[in-house]
Amino acid sequence: MNFKGAHIISVRDFGKEDLLYILDCAARMEEKPRPALMTGLVMASLFFEPSTRTRLSFESAMRRLGGSVVGFSSPKATSLAKGESLKDTIRMVEAYSDVIVMRHPLDGSARVASEISHVPVINGGDGTNQHPTQTFLDLYTIRKCKGRLKGLKIGFVGDLKYGRTVHSLAEALKHFDAEMHFISLSQLRMPQTHLDDLAEHGVRYHETSDINEVIGLLDIIYVTRIQQERFPDPVEYEKAKGAFVIDRELLEKAKADLKVMHPLPRRDEIAEEVDETDHAVYFEQAHNGIPVRQAMLALVTGMME
Ligand code: CP
Repeated sequence: MNFKGAHIISVRDFGKEDLLYILDCAARMEEKPRPALMTGLVMASLFFEPSTRTRLSFESAMRRLGGSVVGFSSPKATSLAKGESLKDTIRMVEAYSDVIVMRHPLDGSARVASEISHVPVINGGDGTNQHPTQTFLDLYTIRKCKGRLKGLKIGFVGDLKYGRTVHSLAEALKHFDAEMHFISLSQLRMPQTHLDDLAEHGVRYHETSDINEVIGLLDIIYVTRIQQERFPDPVEYEKAKGAFVIDRELLEKAKADLKVMHPLPRRDEIAEEVDETDHAVYFEQAHNGIPVRQAMLALVTGMME
């Protein structure tokens, strides 16, 4: 695909070759810093929901390429608090910037913004739906730590219902002959629409609520936080929290080269004692946000081919 001017909204919009191309561009960014590549360009950083990694890594990526950043980390300090619509906000911000990075609590909001904006919109997470740049950095991390993407056995554990990073990553991995194991409580299962899509693409997948059944099979385990903020009923959250904890005792049953990933932030689903093991790659994963997001910013603004 032609990335110049493209909106980055959903992993569904990218084929296998596009994904590999993004990873190669990120590797080029990591190998060779380009401190003046985006000089004179402005990134708008519109975060309607809390974020540490996505917002700060995008802002850092832009600044390390010589560009500048405008934006907000909470809608309370903007005219949204006076009732301005998302559509009107985007109409304003497109005039102030060359690329927009947006996180918003509503599923589909990034697509709506992209239909209005004349500058590229990059989805930094829309509700429970998609988080495409997280997926790109997840793929980048998998390729770096396993040396390949093809044919891996990948477990997803935790909140598979509300976790947009799981939805996006499973979508991407269907291009790479992955065998997927979905480990969750029944009320937090992977949504049926995603499972149907995987089945249609011939992906081998299994569901279980017993992590001990599968831990020894896996090459990667992708752990997710129970998304408290998305539960309509707090009692349901209380029932679900703490159901799965990755600790050293569990990892004794795993392959020696199992890698533990997590999009972060974590609560208690990975014990801190795991941080010092060779299994842990979640901090490296977050650091990979810089070259991957540098590549995305440079590609959509036409500064990298
Ligand atoms: N992984 C991720 O999206 O983290 P933040 O919510 O801190 O941006």
